Formats: sequence, structure tokens, C-alpha cells
Amino acid sequence: MRTDKTDTLRFGIIGCGRIALKHAEAISSIADAELTAVCDIIPERALEFAQKYGGSSCTDYHELLEREDIDIVTIATPSGLHAGIGTAAARAGKHVLVEKPMAMTLKTADALIEACRTAGVKLGVIHQNRFNKSIKLLRQALESGRFGRLTHGQAAVRWNRDDNYYSQAPWRGTKLQDGGVLMNQSIHNIDLLQWMFGPVESVFGYTATNLRKIEMEDVGAAVLKFKNGAIGLIEAASTIYPKNIEETLNVFGETGSVIVGGIAVNRIEAWEFPGGEAEKQEIFEAQESDPPNVYGFGHRELFLDMMRAIREQREPAIPGEEGRKAVEIILAVYRCQETGQAVTLPLLED
Ligand SMILES: NC(=O)c1ccc[n+]([C@@H]2O[C@H](COP(=O)([O-])OP(=O)(O)OC[C@H]3O[C@@H](n4cnc5c(N)ncnc54)[C@H](O)[C@@H]3O)[C@@H](O)[C@H]2O)c1
Repeated sequence: MRTDKTDTLRFGIIGCGRIALKHAEAISSIADAELTAVCDIIPERALEFAQKYGGSSCTDYHELLEREDIDIVTIATPSGLHAGIGTAAARAGKHVLVEKPMAMTLKTADALIEACRTAGVKLGVIHQNRFNKSIKLLRQALESGRFGRLTHGQAAVRWNRDDNYYSQAPWRGTKLQDGGVLMNQSIHNIDLLQWMFGPVESVFGYTATNLRKIEMEDVGAAVLKFKNGAIGLIEAASTIYPKNIEETLNVFGETGSVIVGGIAVNRIEAWEFPGGEAEKQEIFEAQESDPPNVYGFGHRELFLDMMRAIREQREPAIPGEEGRKAVEIILAVYRCQETGQAVTLPLLED
């Protein structure tokens, strides 16, 4: 495994579907990164992907993991396979960059974290919105105490995933492989909400399957109580007519109000701090436009961070323990739906 500062780091991608192209684009845009091999159980998909983005192709991920010329494995398979494949990758001595959700249960998330720790490899979770310019500015304001006491916040995902989307692949919308709109689409925003306000003390929520023909929820809502006394609201829907409207994060405190909206939390819509008119103007003028799709612009920076973490022998910006937090919140909402009771964290799984 390479760790030298000057060496190119070599990637393998497992799962060559929709999001994998963002991985391939990120790798090809970084000078000292190389795509060595890709894997998909659908042979034509793996082959076509390799022809387009480089590297060789295979259909069995064990084959990819056996190769000595791969340093980092990215996992972009159905979510229910993430933790198992990640654990196997760690045991094979590869650094692991795993798509969200990092795992579908806390038990398998912990097994993945432990496998990476034991093998001495890095584990990074892909929550690329943390690298949005808007979110970085918000986080800086929070870290420098500009909000004063935090009062409350909201994470809202108002998107449309129609029946065609859910029927594209059999794993979509299922309990074991995907979860519903909270676990799939809304998890990035829930990650951001907990990053700004966390840790979470307790959770109460409901889910419903109102329009789509899926096993899990197409609408979810929850209230979080944070340990710092603030309250958080989560709203998630894949039923919004007729298309994606917004992914919005609101943060309110004693001396600050920020609303980041747009299609995927890229656009700052309110930026209020005492005496901040000139700064506000500057922020509005310099902001990113809405991305072409909800995947946003963050993958490249997140991949760069992972490479630096390996070279600098530090943790990546979003290590496994951090990726686990949003999974725990969402599983707690699912528990509330089953029991009708609020859940105090940590969530104890059966
Ligand atoms: N970061 C983001 O914004 C973002 C966006 C979309 C999807 N995702 C996540 O990425 C993952 C993939 O989503 P997608 O929309 O690309 O799905 P997809 O169905 O388009 O792609 C998944 C691919 O994995 C392949 N696959 C299945 N089992 C495999 C195995 N055992 N070995 C190798 N390949 C296997 C499938 O054949 C398919 O090509 C999901 O976990 C999803 O939550 C993240």
C-alpha cells in the first residue's frame, strides 16, 4: 500500500452505476490519482465503465481486492452491501471510501470501523455536501461562535423520485438494501444538521409510504433534541410534485440566522450576523450556482481529502465514526415509527 507523498494513489471502484461516475470523474480530475480497476456484477456495465474511465474490469469484487496495485477502494454498490464489501476491502489492506449510508445497521457500521482500525487503513464516508462552499462558510461561522447559543435548525429534502426511479433497480426502496427517503436521499442533510448541532440526545419521528410502491418510506419527519438544548427538525420527501424543489439547511441561534437552500444546499439564502452587511454582500456575490444535479460539486474535494489523509497519516474529514451518526439518527426514526415512542441515543439495536 502506498503512503509516500509523491506516489500516485491507485483506486478501484466497486459498483459502476449512477454515482460511480462521480467517483471516476473525481479520480480523473486529480493529477496524482489513477483508476486501476472497476468491478460490477453486470459484466457489460463494468466493461463499458472501464473503457470510458480507464482501468481493467471484473465482475467479482474479491478479484479486485486481491490486486496489489490498488491503494483505495471506493464502494458504490447498493447500500446494504457497503459494510460487508468495506470490511473485506480493509482485510485486504485497502483504504476504504464508502458511499452513504456507510451501513444499514449500527452493528455492521461498527464492524466496518473496527475492521479498518485493525487493518490500519483509513475509512472515509462520502457526504460530499460537507465540501459545498456554502456549508464550509456556515461551519466556519459556527466554529467561531458567531451564532451565540444555538436555538434550532431544520433539514428539509423536498425532492421527486418517481416510480420509474424506484423500478430502475430491485434494491431501491427496500429495507435491507436501501431504506427509504430518509436513509437514501435525506441522509446527507441529516448528516449536516447533526454536524452543526450534535450530539443528539433524543429522536421522535414518523415515516409513511404515501405515493411510491416501495417497502420503505417516501415521506419522513422527525424532531431531534440536541445535547446543547437546541431542537432540530427533519423533513424528507421523495414525493414532491413535479420535480426536485430544494434541499435546505437552516441554522438559527441567538446572534445568527443562516439558510442554505437551492437544489442541494449550495445556495445561501439568508446570512444574518450583527453588522455583517458588507460580508453578506460579498457572500451572495461569490456563491456557487446550483449544481447540474443533486450530487453537487463535492466529490472531488472529498477524494482529495481522503488522499491527503492517507499521506499525512491523519483521519479523513468524515471518518467512519462520523458517518455512523446520521445512520443512527435515521434508524432511531425507524424505531419510533415501529414503537410510537421517542428514542434516547445511543440507539441499542436488537
Ligand atoms: N453521494 C451521493 O450523493 C450519492 C448519490 C447517489 C447514490 N449514492 C449511493 O451510492 C450507492 C449506489 O447508488 P447508485 O444510484 O449508483 O446505484 P446503481 O444501482 O445505479 O449502481 C449500483 C451498482 O452496483 C452494482 N453491484 C451490485 N452488487 C454488486 C456487487 N456485489 N459487486 C459489484 N457491483 C455490484 C450494480 O450492478 C450497479 O451497477 C448507494 O449506496 C447510494 O445510496 C450516493
